[in-house]
Amino acid sequence: MEFKHKSVLLNETIDNLNIKPDGIYVDGTLGGGGHSYEICKRLSPEGRLIGIDQDEDAIRAASERLSEFKDRVTIVRSNYCEIAQVLKDLGIEGVDGIILDLGVSSFQLDTASRGFTYREDAPLDMRMDQRQETTAATIVNTYSEFDLYRIIRDYGEDKFAKNIAKHIVMAREEQPIETTGQLIEIIKAAIPMKVRAVGGHPAKKTFQAIRIELNKELEVLNDSVETMIDLLNDKGRICIITFHSLEDRIVKTKFKNCEDTCTCPPSFPVCVCGNKPKGKVITRKPIIPTEEEIVANKRSKSSKLRVFERIR
Ligand SMILES: C[S@@+](CC[C@H](N)C(=O)[O-])C[C@H]1O[C@@H](n2cnc3c(N)ncnc32)[C@H](O)[C@@H]1O
Repeated sequence: MEFKHKSVLLNETIDNLNIKPDGIYVDGTLGGGGHSYEICKRLSPEGRLIGIDQDEDAIRAASERLSEFKDRVTIVRSNYCEIAQVLKDLGIEGVDGIILDLGVSSFQLDTASRGFTYREDAPLDMRMDQRQETTAATIVNTYSEFDLYRIIRDYGEDKFAKNIAKHIVMAREEQPIETTGQLIEIIKAAIPMKVRAVGGHPAKKTFQAIRIELNKELEVLNDSVETMIDLLNDKGRICIITFHSLEDRIVKTKFKNCEDTCTCPPSFPVCVCGNKPKGKVITRKPIIPTEEEIVANKRSKSSKLRVFERIR
């Protein structure tokens, strides 16, 4: 199956990276290599791109897509939260730019057997890293009703979270929930008919919530942004594309905290803590896709790009 994925906010991200031809760049969410390809095109033979992804299929697709750039490119199967170790293993101390384009690729969504989609019946999987043992089925069959409610409410922002959690627990008392099809039927039964007729797919929000929880998407992001900023050389930039309001909030807050590092009480006339800002926020407001991009690629609709520049 061909790896199909339209890169989101592509020109905006590449422009904001301020690429130096002989610089070192990291793509922490390589996917099909769409953003990386544009970075590589701008590198000289001295430049380097390190591409990280935890998904075996993405590694395979990106390796092929970027093969023309030969040893300018190094691809590592890992979680981007391991970036410091990945760079250390490669003998790299600092980099000139990092990009993260979060969430799942269209390829992951469209490959029914990966269990991300509510459009076809498949085992409840949703692992981005197929080496991991727990799957979406583990969450659905073992989490308490309250925890299911909490994740569907917070990560799915579904108004019917409480009822969906209740229906999941009732159904699994009869038999384990093993397929996306079974889960969809349970969700449908938990949402009033009138709402089902007008809203989007009734399972969309719950599926998103389970995926975010399973892949620890928010924890990993929260734990990585500052490390990434610390790895940037002077004037190096980090560009992060998010698709969920909670992700965007994490990025916004982390960037702001790295800019406002002073811990002196507001009443102090001058700073005595001596904490230097790590850099500056380039995007006071996030960059969002144009109308044309949204029409051409529905997946870009909720995307937001934020950029931070390191100052040493
Ligand atoms: C939206 S896609 C990236 C698409 C890519 N920018 C392109 O233009 O082709 C996100 C990719 O990031 C990967 N990913 C998500 N979270 C990750 C993490 N914590 N560590 C490593 N890879 C991750 C997913 O497996 C997926 O392949």
